[in-house]
Amino acid sequence: MRHLMIGTGWKMNLGIRDSLDYIDVLLPKVESVSEVDIFIVPSFIALDQVGQALKNSNVQFGAQNLFWQEKGAFTGEISPVMLTECGCQYAEVGHWERRRLFAETNETVGLKTRAAWDHGLIPIICIGEDIKPVAPQDAAVMLKAQLQGALGCLKPQEVAQTVLAYEPAWAIGTGKAAADPVYANQIHGLVRAIVMEMFGKQIADAVRIIYGGSVDLDNARGFLQQAEIDGLFVGRAALNPNVFAEMVHLGLEFSFRKK
Ligand code: PGA
Repeated sequence: MRHLMIGTGWKMNLGIRDSLDYIDVLLPKVESVSEVDIFIVPSFIALDQVGQALKNSNVQFGAQNLFWQEKGAFTGEISPVMLTECGCQYAEVGHWERRRLFAETNETVGLKTRAAWDHGLIPIICIGEDIKPVAPQDAAVMLKAQLQGALGCLKPQEVAQTVLAYEPAWAIGTGKAAADPVYANQIHGLVRAIVMEMFGKQIADAVRIIYGGSVDLDNARGFLQQAEIDGLFVGRAALNPNVFAEMVHLGLEFSFRKK
């Protein structure tokens, strides 16, 4: 059984004060929810205080990126040790914006994924085809290279607990180009098939594959209805904590169906 996940990444949007205000609004609205794994991915600068604010709550949190070394002369980077010190449970790696704007490659995504696991951080690995929608078989070629780079250095048990976020570049940040849920479901199935080829059926059945890219309250249900979609990773729409809380409750409707 794959537990449904509803998460949001705040990118370079909320600072410390705004993050804490968000959590104040969110927690009372979702505190009764146990059937959905809820996570937020704030900015680095807010992680420590977010961690304090989420203590003893049912909301988990993670970082938007990490470097693969533990310490040293790497100006501007954040190490996995620093993230665990803040209490992070997750580390997002390979977001399309990081690949496009900050030259991340499948190889560096692999190094970061390995470093995350070496420090007990669950990686949320973003994958997806770039530029424009392509036929599923062409998407599969790109996704396979991304998965081989990201997962190649993991042990099967680590892969089983890793989260994959399918976020096609053409659907991120557009507001109107969210992938068609049926297409997304088909791609999630292909991703699971690639994981199966690499690690076998048991691992592929366990790995959670969530969808991200212009998810909002209008289209969330369409994605959650799909058998291969194990949750949502939301950007702009969830910058409003009330909207995010509504999505979590929507997820609740589907968490029972997915068991
Ligand atoms: P968006 O961002 O929902 O604003 O498109 C999604 C993401 O980048 O994870």
